[in-house]
Amino acid sequence: MTSLPFPVERYREDFPILAQQIHGHPLAYLDTGASAQKPRAVIEAMTRFMENDYANIHRGVHELSQRATDKYEAVRSVVQNFIKAEHDDEIVFTHGATDAINLVAQTWGRTFLKAGDEIVITALEHHANIVPWQMLREAFGIDLRVVPITPEGEVRVEDVKAALSPKTKLVAFAHVSNVLGTVLPAKEIVALAHEAGALALVDGCQSISHMPVDVRDMDADFFVFSGHKLYGPTGIGVLYGKREILSRMPPWQGGGDMIASVTFAETTYKEPPHRFEAGTPPITEVIGLGAAIDYVSAIGMNNIAQHEKDILAYATEKLSRVDGMRIVGQAKNKSGIISFIMEQAHPHDIGTILDRHGVAIRAGHHCAQPLMEHLGLVATARASFGLYTSREDIDALVAAVEKVEEIFG
Ligand code: ALA
Repeated sequence: MTSLPFPVERYREDFPILAQQIHGHPLAYLDTGASAQKPRAVIEAMTRFMENDYANIHRGVHELSQRATDKYEAVRSVVQNFIKAEHDDEIVFTHGATDAINLVAQTWGRTFLKAGDEIVITALEHHANIVPWQMLREAFGIDLRVVPITPEGEVRVEDVKAALSPKTKLVAFAHVSNVLGTVLPAKEIVALAHEAGALALVDGCQSISHMPVDVRDMDADFFVFSGHKLYGPTGIGVLYGKREILSRMPPWQGGGDMIASVTFAETTYKEPPHRFEAGTPPITEVIGLGAAIDYVSAIGMNNIAQHEKDILAYATEKLSRVDGMRIVGQAKNKSGIISFIMEQAHPHDIGTILDRHGVAIRAGHHCAQPLMEHLGLVATARASFGLYTSREDIDALVAAVEKVEEIFG
């Protein structure tokens, strides 16, 4: 069966921000790894909600509060179905993926870890999946073990296996590297963690908008992601946790909406997920996240994955031909991210020149300084793709990179 071509031009029209010129050139937005642009469906859903239904949730007896509560809670099931969780109470709304990982560290970690226990991470982690565990190390004397990566930027299951021990309590790793684009063998790593008697936390920030995710098939104990990388708003993220694990975790932040009863003598807490959602949550942002999931689901995650695979192959082939170019990260299984360095120029200079040509990329350490050190680099330039990335965007990137070669070469 041959599949229909991906109508990228039609989808681009859903993103008002893309139809503009930057420094006299059509915008080629290649920084989706940092944050995805927003389709009209998300912008309008949030506006509509604030114009018609907005009120605080779980509190009021009035019509608007009830409506807002119903709409907010309905998004929990939208997320549940999107990541194929078994129950909607396994979906905790957080302020982002960083918030979600810190929640696990500060509740599960502080309750179940003791000095000498080990957490295994990989060398390609984002700071958000390093620093919260280091904070636990400082507080409790746990150990952090780091699985190395291959020169291609892959994580080998045998290296994960070698890092595990009877003291391992958690294996925490990125589903997709935000720097190298490597797709990690999540299911196999989770299985190894479980064989060792440990839990597994998967950071899905760079996978959630690029491929279908099935947390049950993966058997992840925790899976986290941010709304803004999934074409939704900032300020909203998700912590998925297996029901039996969340139910044993104490609350993190205390306040309104997470309690069953409060007296000055004693407070009892709600069951998950509300136990973990203290205070007024990002209500409108949850509505935006729901709209973003509806939007990508209507396109189809498999179709998005295939389109981005085609764009990645096209971009890799074109960029490889530029003089002085080195693509950093050559994993066999890659998602839509290309980090590169050029002999002629520093990544920040590349980023600035590209911007003058309307091409938006990220340059720097990408919040992964230990990975940069591992690679012997201080920075890379990084182009990252989304469902709206077109071959014209890639042609603009290549033409601008050739200008760098002309200027500095
Ligand atoms: N973590 C985001 C990135 O990789 C911000 O750019």
